[in-house]
Amino acid sequence: MSDTEHTGTCPRRRPLPLHRVVTGEPGPPVPARLPDGSPAWLVSRHRDVRHVLSDARFRRSQLYAPDAPALSAVPDLVNNPDLMFNQDGEDHLRLRATLRRAFTPRAVARWQPWITEIVEQCLDSLEHHDPPVDIVAAYTLPLPVMVISRLMGLDDEVRSKLRHWSEHAFSDGSHDGQEVESVLAEFAEFGAGLLSRRRREPGDDLISSVVRAADEEGGIPEAQLVQLVCGLVVGGHDSTMTMLGNSLLYLLGERPECWARLGADESAAEALAERMLHLVPLGDDRGTARHAAEDVEVGGVLIPAGSVVLADCFLANRDPELFPAGPFDDLFAPLEGPGLAFGAGPHYCLGAWLARLELRLGLHRLAARFPGLRLAEPMDEVSWRLGTTSRSPMRLTVTW
Ligand code: HEM
Repeated sequence: MSDTEHTGTCPRRRPLPLHRVVTGEPGPPVPARLPDGSPAWLVSRHRDVRHVLSDARFRRSQLYAPDAPALSAVPDLVNNPDLMFNQDGEDHLRLRATLRRAFTPRAVARWQPWITEIVEQCLDSLEHHDPPVDIVAAYTLPLPVMVISRLMGLDDEVRSKLRHWSEHAFSDGSHDGQEVESVLAEFAEFGAGLLSRRRREPGDDLISSVVRAADEEGGIPEAQLVQLVCGLVVGGHDSTMTMLGNSLLYLLGERPECWARLGADESAAEALAERMLHLVPLGDDRGTARHAAEDVEVGGVLIPAGSVVLADCFLANRDPELFPAGPFDDLFAPLEGPGLAFGAGPHYCLGAWLARLELRLGLHRLAARFPGLRLAEPMDEVSWRLGTTSRSPMRLTVTW
């Protein structure tokens, strides 16, 4: 494997920064393999990926039928059959409706003042450090943790456990199956407790509004609500932390000339955040999985009923049909077409507007307050937090 090829799901050598991972050109659907060797199809052209993610004949729940091949070597949160992401049709809609109003662009825009306060608070405490400083511990982790904690009304004791749960929820292969299962059971217990506390004493937080909406709707299995809470706690901070860390590595390591404009102009920061999301994948996963409920033709190829299909958003985001060559050239230019960083179709990321806002403010305000920020270690020596779902620097030493 050459240094420009992707590191695979279980990297044995020092992994490449995700922005340097290259996996070839998108093309028609081709046969592929799941981690356990079972057959699958890989789709990679932009229009084919959108088709698979949007067409109701491609589903998630069947991926967890008793005779289905395992999608990951050890259990993890993403592959919990009760997770909202793993529901289809009416079951999925009913669950998603409990959150629909919370995450609209307008609702998220109303959060901007307190999210800005949290950003400034994190920057104030960063200023009190003597450089060099680990920017992950000091900024890219606390910022999204404080945002999701405020949204969900989580106290300090819970906050201290978030990373422990997340590191097991998005398995990186360093914990055995039994250990992951026991930590995820403890995490689910926390989710169940939080739901019942909010039922007894509702507040104006996100979980109280989920409980209200679910109880009005009726009939939603409690196990699904518990996994919804766990998914939000983890997905609500881990992906944003990952994107912040990987974007900083790229910007400070490869494009320091962009730093001044990023700090000077918030709308330029908005465009840059969008491009980072588009170009730097969250992790090493090559393709989000779906199950074909019937025979479906995709891009001129017949995908037989029962197939597992992997939709590669990373390659699709580089499809030259929509995105011309040199996508990293102008980081402040608007995207040429609809990106797939947040997926597409019924499972389109619910937190997309929140993540965009955190990334935009988080990068813009950091560049404004620390115009001389730079890496204090060579990019090739960065130690990585591994994981297929999300991967980012474990520590990133910076100075100013
Ligand atoms: C940079 C940050 C983020 C990225 C790149 C991201 C990416 C994604 C993607 C690609 C999907 C769809 C997966 C698929 O269809 O296979 C997804 C789904 C989801 N995301 Fe995000 N996400 C981010 C942040 C967030 C945040 C902050 C939240 C919540 C506060 C969140 C909540 C969700 C939920 C609940 C789903 C499942 C939706 C459903 O099944 O209907 N995400 N995300």
